[in-house]
Amino acid sequence: MYLSVRPRRLRRNETLRRLTRETRVSVDNLVLPLFVREEAHACKAITSMPGQYQWGLAEVADAAARAADTGIPAVLLFGIPAHKDAEGSSAWKRDSVVCRAVEAIKQRSPGLCVITDVCLCEYTDHGHCGLLHQNRDGITDVNNDATVEVLVKEALAHAGAGADIVAPSDMMDGRVFALRDALDANSHAEVAIMAYSAKFASAFYGPFREAAESPPRFGDRRSYQMDPANGNEALREIALDIEEGADIVMVKPALCYLDIIRRAADEFNIPLAAYNVSGEYAMIKAAAAQGWLDERRTVLELTTSIRRAGASIIITYWAMDLAGWLQE
Ligand code: PBG
Repeated sequence: MYLSVRPRRLRRNETLRRLTRETRVSVDNLVLPLFVREEAHACKAITSMPGQYQWGLAEVADAAARAADTGIPAVLLFGIPAHKDAEGSSAWKRDSVVCRAVEAIKQRSPGLCVITDVCLCEYTDHGHCGLLHQNRDGITDVNNDATVEVLVKEALAHAGAGADIVAPSDMMDGRVFALRDALDANSHAEVAIMAYSAKFASAFYGPFREAAESPPRFGDRRSYQMDPANGNEALREIALDIEEGADIVMVKPALCYLDIIRRAADEFNIPLAAYNVSGEYAMIKAAAAQGWLDERRTVLELTTSIRRAGASIIITYWAMDLAGWLQE
Protein backbone atom coordinates (compact mmCIF):
# COMPACT_ATOMS: atom_id res chain seq x y z
CA MET A 1 0.00 0.00 0.00
CA TYR A 2 1.49 3.35 -1.01
CA LEU A 3 -0.94 5.59 0.95
CA SER A 4 0.44 7.37 4.00
CA VAL A 5 -2.29 10.01 4.26
CA ARG A 6 -5.51 8.40 5.41
CA PRO A 7 -8.29 10.82 6.41
CA ARG A 8 -10.36 7.80 7.46
CA ARG A 9 -8.06 7.29 10.50
CA LEU A 10 -9.97 10.02 12.29
CA ARG A 11 -13.39 8.72 11.27
CA ARG A 12 -12.89 5.26 12.76
CA ASN A 13 -15.10 5.68 15.82
CA GLU A 14 -17.39 8.25 17.39
CA THR A 15 -14.79 9.43 19.93
CA LEU A 16 -12.38 10.40 17.15
CA ARG A 17 -15.18 11.97 15.13
CA ARG A 18 -16.29 13.94 18.18
CA LEU A 19 -12.73 15.09 18.84
CA THR A 20 -12.23 16.40 15.30
CA ARG A 21 -15.71 17.81 14.63
CA GLU A 22 -15.42 21.40 13.38
CA THR A 23 -18.98 22.63 13.69
CA ARG A 24 -21.59 22.17 16.39
CA VAL A 25 -25.21 23.22 16.61
CA SER A 26 -26.31 24.18 20.09
CA VAL A 27 -29.72 25.03 21.48
CA ASP A 28 -28.11 28.43 22.21
CA ASN A 29 -28.18 29.16 18.46
CA LEU A 30 -31.92 28.69 18.04
CA VAL A 31 -34.88 31.04 17.65
CA LEU A 32 -38.43 29.64 17.56
CA PRO A 33 -41.00 31.51 15.43
CA LEU A 34 -44.52 31.69 16.94
CA PHE A 35 -47.76 32.78 15.27
CA VAL A 36 -50.37 34.43 17.46
CA ARG A 37 -54.03 35.26 16.78
CA GLU A 38 -56.23 37.73 18.56
CA GLU A 39 -58.67 35.16 19.97
CA ALA A 40 -57.85 33.91 23.47
CA HIS A 41 -57.99 30.26 22.39
CA ALA A 42 -57.07 29.22 18.86
CA CYS A 43 -54.47 26.41 18.74
CA LYS A 44 -55.11 26.13 15.03
CA ALA A 45 -52.89 23.69 13.14
CA ILE A 46 -51.14 25.13 10.06
CA THR A 47 -51.74 22.44 7.46
CA SER A 48 -48.79 23.33 5.22
CA MET A 49 -46.43 23.30 8.23
CA PRO A 50 -47.15 20.11 10.19
CA GLY A 51 -46.40 20.57 13.89
CA GLN A 52 -46.82 24.37 13.78
CA TYR A 53 -49.84 26.27 15.16
CA GLN A 54 -51.50 29.63 15.26
CA TRP A 55 -51.73 30.20 19.02
CA GLY A 56 -54.38 32.23 20.81
CA LEU A 57 -53.42 35.08 23.12
CA ALA A 58 -54.16 32.91 26.16
CA GLU A 59 -51.94 30.11 24.81
CA VAL A 60 -48.90 31.83 23.38
CA ALA A 61 -47.19 32.41 26.74
CA ASP A 62 -47.37 28.66 27.41
CA ALA A 63 -45.86 27.87 24.01
CA ALA A 64 -43.06 30.35 24.71
CA ALA A 65 -42.53 28.96 28.21
CA ARG A 66 -42.13 25.45 26.79
CA ALA A 67 -39.41 26.82 24.50
CA ALA A 68 -37.70 28.57 27.41
CA ASP A 69 -37.81 25.34 29.43
CA THR A 70 -35.84 23.49 26.76
CA GLY A 71 -33.17 26.21 26.80
CA ILE A 72 -34.17 27.99 23.59
CA PRO A 73 -33.03 31.59 24.16
CA ALA A 74 -35.48 33.47 21.93
CA VAL A 75 -38.85 33.45 20.19
CA LEU A 76 -39.85 35.47 17.12
CA LEU A 77 -43.49 36.65 17.09
CA PHE A 78 -45.80 37.05 14.10
CA GLY A 79 -49.27 38.53 14.68
CA ILE A 80 -52.48 37.66 12.87
CA PRO A 81 -54.90 40.51 13.57
CA ALA A 82 -58.70 40.26 13.61
CA HIS A 83 -58.95 43.39 11.45
CA LYS A 84 -57.01 44.21 8.27
CA ASP A 85 -57.17 47.45 6.26
CA ALA A 86 -55.22 49.26 3.56
CA GLU A 87 -53.00 51.03 6.11
CA GLY A 88 -52.32 48.02 8.33
CA SER A 89 -53.57 50.02 11.31
CA SER A 90 -53.75 46.95 13.59
CA ALA A 91 -49.95 46.74 13.40
CA TRP A 92 -49.04 49.81 15.40
CA LYS A 93 -51.73 50.03 18.08
CA ARG A 94 -50.32 49.74 21.58
CA ASP A 95 -52.85 46.93 22.25
CA SER A 96 -52.05 45.06 19.03
CA VAL A 97 -52.02 41.27 19.04
CA VAL A 98 -48.21 41.25 19.09
CA CYS A 99 -47.99 43.81 21.91
CA ARG A 100 -50.37 41.76 24.04
CA ALA A 101 -48.45 38.59 23.26
CA VAL A 102 -45.15 40.23 24.23
CA GLU A 103 -46.60 41.30 27.56
CA ALA A 104 -48.01 37.85 28.31
CA ILE A 105 -44.74 36.11 27.39
CA LYS A 106 -42.56 38.55 29.34
CA GLN A 107 -44.76 38.15 32.40
CA ARG A 108 -44.54 34.36 32.23
CA SER A 109 -40.92 33.98 31.07
CA PRO A 110 -39.03 37.18 31.96
CA GLY A 111 -35.66 35.73 30.94
CA LEU A 112 -36.74 34.70 27.45
CA CYS A 113 -35.63 37.02 24.63
CA VAL A 114 -38.70 38.22 22.71
CA ILE A 115 -38.17 39.30 19.11
CA THR A 116 -41.02 40.81 17.08
CA ASP A 117 -41.41 40.75 13.31
CA VAL A 118 -41.96 44.32 12.14
CA CYS A 119 -43.82 44.36 8.82
CA LEU A 120 -47.24 45.25 7.44
CA CYS A 121 -48.09 42.22 5.28
CA GLU A 122 -50.00 40.45 8.05
CA TYR A 123 -52.01 43.63 8.72
CA THR A 124 -52.87 45.00 5.27
CA ASP A 125 -55.99 43.83 3.41
CA HIS A 126 -53.95 43.77 0.16
CA GLY A 127 -51.22 41.64 1.77
CA HIS A 128 -48.27 43.80 0.72
CA CYS A 129 -45.54 44.73 3.19
CA GLY A 130 -46.32 48.45 3.14
CA LEU A 131 -48.59 51.29 2.02
CA LEU A 132 -49.43 51.44 -1.68
CA HIS A 133 -49.07 54.16 -4.31
CA GLN A 134 -48.61 54.35 -8.07
CA ASN A 135 -44.96 54.36 -9.06
CA ARG A 136 -43.65 56.40 -12.01
CA ASP A 137 -44.43 53.53 -14.38
CA GLY A 138 -48.07 53.69 -13.31
CA ILE A 139 -47.73 50.39 -11.47
CA THR A 140 -49.27 49.96 -8.02
CA ASP A 141 -46.29 49.55 -5.71
CA VAL A 142 -45.24 49.88 -2.09
CA ASN A 143 -44.43 53.46 -1.11
CA ASN A 144 -41.07 53.27 0.63
CA ASP A 145 -40.92 56.38 2.78
CA ALA A 146 -44.58 56.40 3.84
CA THR A 147 -44.20 52.76 4.86
CA VAL A 148 -41.10 53.48 6.95
CA GLU A 149 -43.13 55.97 9.03
CA VAL A 150 -45.68 53.28 9.86
CA LEU A 151 -42.99 50.68 10.60
CA VAL A 152 -41.52 53.11 13.11
CA LYS A 153 -44.88 53.32 14.91
CA GLU A 154 -45.14 49.52 14.90
CA ALA A 155 -41.62 49.04 16.30
CA LEU A 156 -42.23 51.66 19.03
CA ALA A 157 -45.42 49.86 20.06
CA HIS A 158 -43.54 46.52 20.28
CA ALA A 159 -40.69 48.13 22.25
CA GLY A 160 -43.19 49.76 24.60
CA ALA A 161 -44.78 46.36 25.24
CA GLY A 162 -41.38 44.94 26.24
CA ALA A 163 -39.84 43.43 23.09
CA ASP A 164 -36.08 42.91 23.43
CA ILE A 165 -35.38 42.94 19.69
CA VAL A 166 -37.41 44.30 16.78
CA ALA A 167 -36.93 42.61 13.41
CA PRO A 168 -37.97 44.59 10.33
CA SER A 169 -38.78 42.13 7.50
CA ASP A 170 -40.30 44.57 4.99
CA MET A 171 -37.14 45.40 2.97
CA MET A 172 -37.88 49.14 2.72
CA ASP A 173 -34.78 51.28 2.18
CA GLY A 174 -33.68 53.29 5.20
CA ARG A 175 -35.93 51.58 7.75
CA VAL A 176 -33.14 50.45 10.05
CA PHE A 177 -31.88 54.01 10.49
CA ALA A 178 -35.43 55.30 11.05
CA LEU A 179 -36.13 52.60 13.65
CA ARG A 180 -32.84 53.18 15.50
CA ASP A 181 -33.43 56.93 15.56
CA ALA A 182 -37.00 56.60 16.85
CA LEU A 183 -36.17 53.92 19.44
CA ASP A 184 -33.35 56.07 20.83
CA ALA A 185 -35.53 59.19 20.89
CA ASN A 186 -38.24 57.33 22.80
CA SER A 187 -36.07 55.89 25.60
CA HIS A 188 -35.70 52.47 23.96
CA ALA A 189 -31.95 52.70 23.39
CA GLU A 190 -31.57 49.18 24.81
CA VAL A 191 -33.93 47.60 22.30
CA ALA A 192 -31.88 45.90 19.57
CA ILE A 193 -32.59 45.61 15.84
CA MET A 194 -32.28 42.35 13.95
CA ALA A 195 -32.57 43.37 10.30
CA TYR A 196 -33.83 41.05 7.60
CA SER A 197 -31.03 42.48 5.47
CA ALA A 198 -30.65 40.07 2.56
CA LYS A 199 -34.22 38.90 2.14
CA PHE A 200 -34.82 37.32 -1.23
CA ALA A 201 -38.10 37.20 -3.20
CA SER A 202 -38.40 33.47 -2.64
CA ALA A 203 -40.84 30.73 -3.58
CA PHE A 204 -39.93 29.13 -0.24
CA TYR A 205 -42.20 31.53 1.70
CA GLY A 206 -45.33 29.81 0.35
CA PRO A 207 -46.41 27.99 3.52
CA PHE A 208 -45.71 31.04 5.70
CA ARG A 209 -48.30 33.01 3.82
CA GLU A 210 -50.90 30.47 4.91
CA ALA A 211 -49.48 30.49 8.45
CA ALA A 212 -49.63 34.29 8.73
CA GLU A 213 -52.63 34.71 6.41
CA SER A 214 -50.60 37.24 4.46
CA PRO A 215 -50.42 36.34 0.75
CA PRO A 216 -50.35 39.42 -1.50
CA ARG A 217 -53.81 39.80 -3.10
CA PHE A 218 -52.19 40.93 -6.35
CA GLY A 219 -48.69 41.00 -7.82
CA ASP A 220 -45.66 39.79 -5.90
CA ARG A 221 -42.92 41.17 -3.67
CA ARG A 222 -40.19 41.56 -6.27
CA SER A 223 -40.16 45.37 -6.14
CA TYR A 224 -38.92 45.23 -2.54
CA GLN A 225 -37.45 41.77 -1.85
CA MET A 226 -34.19 40.83 -3.55
CA ASP A 227 -33.60 39.02 -6.82
CA PRO A 228 -32.31 35.49 -5.99
CA ALA A 229 -29.65 36.00 -8.66
CA ASN A 230 -27.85 38.77 -6.77
CA GLY A 231 -25.06 37.99 -4.31
CA ASN A 232 -23.09 41.22 -4.48
CA GLU A 233 -26.25 43.23 -3.89
CA ALA A 234 -26.98 41.10 -0.81
CA LEU A 235 -23.63 42.13 0.68
CA ARG A 236 -24.42 45.75 -0.07
CA GLU A 237 -27.83 45.45 1.66
CA ILE A 238 -26.10 43.97 4.71
CA ALA A 239 -23.44 46.71 4.73
CA LEU A 240 -26.16 49.37 4.57
CA ASP A 241 -28.10 47.88 7.48
CA ILE A 242 -24.92 47.74 9.58
CA GLU A 243 -24.22 51.40 8.76
CA GLU A 244 -27.81 52.28 9.65
CA GLY A 245 -27.44 50.68 13.08
CA ALA A 246 -28.50 47.02 12.88
CA ASP A 247 -27.27 44.89 15.80
CA ILE A 248 -27.88 41.57 14.04
CA VAL A 249 -28.18 41.01 10.29
CA MET A 250 -30.01 38.18 8.56
CA VAL A 251 -29.92 36.17 5.38
CA LYS A 252 -33.23 34.63 4.33
CA PRO A 253 -34.00 31.95 3.19
CA ALA A 254 -31.10 29.81 4.40
CA LEU A 255 -30.57 26.73 2.27
CA CYS A 256 -30.40 28.17 -1.25
CA TYR A 257 -28.33 31.06 0.12
CA LEU A 258 -25.52 29.37 2.08
CA ASP A 259 -23.04 31.13 -0.21
CA ILE A 260 -24.42 34.50 0.90
CA ILE A 261 -24.18 33.45 4.55
CA ARG A 262 -20.52 32.46 4.02
CA ARG A 263 -19.66 35.71 2.24
CA ALA A 264 -21.41 37.78 4.92
CA ALA A 265 -19.62 35.88 7.71
CA ASP A 266 -16.25 36.50 6.02
CA GLU A 267 -16.91 40.16 5.34
CA PHE A 268 -18.62 41.48 8.48
CA ASN A 269 -18.00 41.23 12.22
CA ILE A 270 -21.56 41.27 13.50
CA PRO A 271 -23.92 38.53 14.69
CA LEU A 272 -25.38 36.83 11.65
CA ALA A 273 -28.76 35.09 11.57
CA ALA A 274 -30.18 32.73 8.96
CA TYR A 275 -33.90 32.07 8.55
CA ASN A 276 -34.68 28.42 7.79
CA VAL A 277 -38.02 29.33 6.20
CA SER A 278 -41.44 27.74 5.94
CA GLY A 279 -40.91 26.12 2.52
CA GLU A 280 -37.67 24.51 3.67
CA TYR A 281 -39.62 23.12 6.63
CA ALA A 282 -42.61 21.98 4.57
CA MET A 283 -40.64 20.10 1.92
CA ILE A 284 -38.68 18.07 4.46
CA LYS A 285 -41.81 17.41 6.55
CA ALA A 286 -43.58 16.18 3.42
CA ALA A 287 -40.73 13.87 2.42
CA ALA A 288 -40.36 12.60 5.99
CA ALA A 289 -44.10 11.83 6.17
CA GLN A 290 -43.64 9.59 3.11
CA GLY A 291 -40.69 7.85 4.73
CA TRP A 292 -38.38 9.23 2.05
CA LEU A 293 -36.17 11.23 4.41
CA ASP A 294 -35.13 10.69 8.03
CA GLU A 295 -36.34 13.98 9.52
CA ARG A 296 -33.95 14.06 12.51
CA ARG A 297 -30.84 13.35 10.44
CA THR A 298 -31.89 15.74 7.69
CA VAL A 299 -32.54 18.59 10.10
CA LEU A 300 -29.32 18.04 12.05
CA GLU A 301 -27.43 18.08 8.74
CA LEU A 302 -29.09 21.22 7.43
CA THR A 303 -28.68 23.18 10.66
CA THR A 304 -25.03 22.07 10.87
CA SER A 305 -24.60 23.34 7.30
CA ILE A 306 -26.06 26.72 8.22
CA ARG A 307 -23.62 26.97 11.14
CA ARG A 308 -20.71 25.81 8.95
CA ALA A 309 -21.63 28.47 6.38
CA GLY A 310 -21.13 31.04 9.16
CA ALA A 311 -24.45 31.95 10.77
CA SER A 312 -24.53 31.93 14.57
CA ILE A 313 -28.30 32.36 14.94
CA ILE A 314 -30.72 29.95 13.27
CA ILE A 315 -34.41 30.84 13.13
CA THR A 316 -36.18 27.54 12.63
CA TYR A 317 -39.59 25.90 13.08
CA TRP A 318 -37.66 22.81 14.25
CA ALA A 319 -36.26 24.63 17.30
CA MET A 320 -38.32 22.55 19.77
CA ASP A 321 -37.43 19.22 18.09
CA LEU A 322 -33.79 20.24 17.84
CA ALA A 323 -33.63 21.12 21.52
CA GLY A 324 -34.59 17.50 22.22
CA TRP A 325 -32.42 15.92 19.54
CA LEU A 326 -29.33 17.87 20.58
CA GLN A 327 -29.65 16.53 24.13
CA GLU A 328 -29.68 12.86 23.03
C1 PBG B 1 -42.92 39.12 5.97
C2 PBG B 1 -42.30 37.82 6.29
C3 PBG B 1 -42.34 36.68 5.51
C4 PBG B 1 -41.63 35.70 6.21
C5 PBG B 1 -41.16 36.28 7.38
N1 PBG B 1 -41.58 37.60 7.41
C6 PBG B 1 -43.06 36.37 4.27
C7 PBG B 1 -42.87 37.13 3.06
O1 PBG B 1 -42.00 37.97 2.92
O2 PBG B 1 -43.67 36.89 2.15
C8 PBG B 1 -41.40 34.31 5.71
C9 PBG B 1 -40.98 33.31 6.72
C10 PBG B 1 -41.08 31.91 6.26
O3 PBG B 1 -41.37 31.61 5.09
O4 PBG B 1 -40.87 31.04 7.11
N2 PBG B 1 -43.38 39.79 7.09
